[in-house]
Amino acid sequence: MEDRVVSSESTDFDEQIELSLRPQTLDTYIGQNKVKDNLKIFIEAAKMREESLDHVLLYGPPGLGKTTLATVIANEMAVHIKMTSGPAIERPGDLAAILSSLEPGDVLFIDEIHRLPRAIEEVLYPAMEDYCLDIVVGKGPTARSIRLDLPPFTLVGATTRSGALSAPLRDRFGVLLRLDYYDEEALAEIVERSAELFQVAIHQQGAIELARRSRGTPRIANRLLKRVRDYAQVIGDGHITLPLCQTALELLQVDPLGLDHIDRKLVENMIERFRGGPVGLDTISASIGEESMTIEDVYEPYLMQIGFIQRTPRGRMVTALAYEHFGYAYPSET
Ligand SMILES: Nc1ncnc2c1ncn2[C@@H]1O[C@H](COP(=O)(O)OP(=O)(O)O)[C@@H](O)[C@H]1O
Ligand SMILES: [Mg+2]
Repeated sequence: MEDRVVSSESTDFDEQIELSLRPQTLDTYIGQNKVKDNLKIFIEAAKMREESLDHVLLYGPPGLGKTTLATVIANEMAVHIKMTSGPAIERPGDLAAILSSLEPGDVLFIDEIHRLPRAIEEVLYPAMEDYCLDIVVGKGPTARSIRLDLPPFTLVGATTRSGALSAPLRDRFGVLLRLDYYDEEALAEIVERSAELFQVAIHQQGAIELARRSRGTPRIANRLLKRVRDYAQVIGDGHITLPLCQTALELLQVDPLGLDHIDRKLVENMIERFRGGPVGLDTISASIGEESMTIEDVYEPYLMQIGFIQRTPRGRMVTALAYEHFGYAYPSET
């Protein structure tokens, strides 16, 4: 897949900057108010009872703050956090080693938890339920299973596809929290906060413009801010103003809704070749030469979020809104 400045996936470029921009506490974590209100109560209650926090599952599209929230939870509980990911754990022994290194109350964060192999998931069940590990020692007829106690801990799992999680695993989480795309106001606040940390001056209208073009995603907002800052230094006077944002984003080929040439290609293809649909995912995939999975996970979600594409039982359809945005006449119903 080609590099997109509006991709919600993390790149090396993001990783350098994200660490310094991550909020550390619930109060500095902007937006997602429903999620924060719930968490505050659960955290407070766990602290009052001097217990570990219930296991938490965070789900939602990439770049919305799942990893950040996991570290915030650990900070608020004043415990350590160990971070790993589904694909990184290859054998049951890997997970057993991580689990047995936890201290009471610690947070274990497993990113992309839906990619955990089934055999490893099974190690997690007794660990989550009874804080213990069942391990097999020896081989053949003398093999026996022994049970090791673990300290109470909190598993925080993150996934972009909650539907891909097995039911027994999902059922073992006490708290399920869905992160949503951010509204413009919250994103503008994130941009202003990041600008302050970058020590760059930004006008309020500039922050709003960046927010508007960030596809509801803090990761994209921060990335665009970083790029626009470069423009401000090179072609401006260092201040990020509204006109500067507009010029810079035009040069970056990010349109006023945060769409780029790939979004345009996808929608125009559906309009020109399939009369706006309904058209099946596999047909779209063959016609633009991208895998169905990529279209479904990466290209489509934001276009659906802003109401440009609709999913119907007979396939995907382009809406009147998208026709208008890309300058096409909407076919009349005859
Ligand atoms: N609620 C928030 N407030 C401020 N910044 C945020 C927030 N959520 C995410 N960010 C920023 O966006 C970046 C990406 O978030 P991250 O937690 O890595 O997303 P995810 O794990 O869901 O892909 C973080 O580095 C952080 O700077
Ligand atoms: Mg993450």
